[in-house]
Amino acid sequence: MRKPLIAGNWKMNMTPTEAKTFIANFINQNLDSDIEVAVIPPFVDLEIISREIKGTKIKLGAQNMCWEDNGAYTGEISPLMLKEIGVEYVIIGHSERRGYFKEDDTMLNLKMKACQKHGLKPILCVGETLEEREKGMTLDRIGYELTEDLKDITLKELVIAYEPIWAIGTGKNASPEDAQAVIEYIRKKADELLGIGEDIRILYGGSVKSDNIKGFMAREGIDGALVGGASLKVDEFTRIVNFKEV
Ligand code: PGA
Repeated sequence: MRKPLIAGNWKMNMTPTEAKTFIANFINQNLDSDIEVAVIPPFVDLEIISREIKGTKIKLGAQNMCWEDNGAYTGEISPLMLKEIGVEYVIIGHSERRGYFKEDDTMLNLKMKACQKHGLKPILCVGETLEEREKGMTLDRIGYELTEDLKDITLKELVIAYEPIWAIGTGKNASPEDAQAVIEYIRKKADELLGIGEDIRILYGGSVKSDNIKGFMAREGIDGALVGGASLKVDEFTRIVNFKEV
């Protein structure tokens, strides 16, 4: 049984003071215990959040990490640093990292291997541009990303997020039917590459809100959501986690 995961990717939002206020409020919410919940704040907020969530069921994730353990990599954060703070999940290959910061699949494969080495759980993001979708190339792009990023990976616990790039932060979301079809393909491909397709949680991400989460979660095979903008407000993120009540 795959436990649904709803993860809030804060991106480059919330100072440590703001993060502290958010989490102090969020831990007091009555969250559906059938859902695994993770917050994924900027690096400088990790320590404070880690301290505040101790003893709760809320999990901690990081938005990125370097593939090396230490060394001359100015501006980077290593898996060892994240582990020491209590980070469990790491987003690998978010489209904003791939796009703005030119992270390619070779680099992302190294990051996946670093997760494997250090027992961190990757949330690997894949997804197509609008142009690729219109040209009917969605599955080609995703198949390529999975093949490259999962090369020589033998991880038993990983999460994949299907995030169509045109749906991120735009207010436009993929329809639950479309998301389900792509996710089915991702599961087949992951099974082919890793032999564990049925155990992998595959999330949808891209303009998820409290008023559309139910449609996604109702679809067989969609195991949760990676939520950006809508995870920044305690009330809205709580409504998303507790979608069964909405
Ligand atoms: P969004 O972002 O919910 O703001 O569209 C999702 C993501 O990038 O993970």
